[in-house]
Amino acid sequence: MRASFDYAGARVFVVGGTSGINLGIAAAFAAAGAEVGVGSRSAGKVAAAVAALSAPGRPAFGAVFDVRDAAAVAEGIGGFAAAGGRIDVLVSGAAGNFPAAAHALSPNGFKSVVDIDVLGTWNVMKAAHPHLRRPGAAVISISAPQAQVAMALQAHACAAKAGVDMVTRCLALEWGREGVRVNSVIPGPIDGTEGMARLAPDAAARARVAAAVPLGRMGTAAEVAALCLFLGSAAASYVTGAVLTVDGGWSLALGGYAMTGGA
Ligand code: HXC
Ligand code: NAP
Repeated sequence: MRASFDYAGARVFVVGGTSGINLGIAAAFAAAGAEVGVGSRSAGKVAAAVAALSAPGRPAFGAVFDVRDAAAVAEGIGGFAAAGGRIDVLVSGAAGNFPAAAHALSPNGFKSVVDIDVLGTWNVMKAAHPHLRRPGAAVISISAPQAQVAMALQAHACAAKAGVDMVTRCLALEWGREGVRVNSVIPGPIDGTEGMARLAPDAAARARVAAAVPLGRMGTAAEVAALCLFLGSAAASYVTGAVLTVDGGWSLALGGYAMTGGA
């Protein structure tokens, strides 16, 4: 994708930026000139992402942490801030999900997803805040359609992502006073990702999902990243507290096609 935004000199940290959509987001910011940092649990994934995101004279930064561990998150994000004195854009994208019927899901299964998504978002935003507090800084949460649409086998993920969006909007209220913008992005079904492999594991399921999208296909990580590049930039200087979808119209079509059978 051709970078349409200039992030030269900007410092961007992407939590969960070691695979899938978030890695695509980190790559887009790096391609636009940003100094990029990523963090997640797996040391191997962090090392591979750092190698992939580094440019000559502009090495990427990596940190290994679990978003459920507030002290480890503060150390990792603090390390990135200390290396350059500040953070300009924070992307909070770590998440856990799997399909599970409510009757079969244990309390710890529900708690694990809620802890990664909601407590994790909270820990990440709290850790980054001291390094962001100035006009122009931006925070972007990566949410999911589950935040807005009740789905079978997804009670845990729906509760978690709804919580992510509400934390995001509350912090937009508080941190707006410091000039920090805080927004959520809701990707639709994104091809070739861990999330879709879990929720639509075979060709028939993938075809069903694609057919339900008005634009007729799943999206790409680059298309999610493009919205993040906009939200992190001065072009979005009056956008805060927003929950923006990049889903090919998928969310519109849920009821729209079910009733009449489509166009
Ligand atoms: C039922 C399950 C389960 C499953 C785990 N559990 N998988 N229950 N069905 N498929 C239960 C376990 O039995 C355990 O409960 C509890 O969850 C914690 O499991 P652990 O493996 O110990 O947890 P942990 O190592 O912390 O791993 C977290 C995880 C894992 C969420 C379970 O899958 C993970 O690390 N996921 C990260 C990657 C990921 O999910 N990517 C996709 C994101 S997609 P008990 O009671 O046995 O102790 C997304 C939205 C996609 O977020 C939207 C698409 C439109
Ligand atoms: P993914 O590749 O599994 O990405 C998840 C990332 O978060 C990985 O880098 C993972 O790395 C990290 N992570 C997971 N649990 C963590 C924890 N406890 N602490 C720290 N890091 C953790 O999945 P994806 O499908 O691309 O999804 C990425 C984001 O997009 C998620 O927020 C998801 O909800 C959202 N989303 C996805 C889709 C889709 O179609 N895939 C649609 C809508 C929204 P480690 O394993 O190294 O920790």
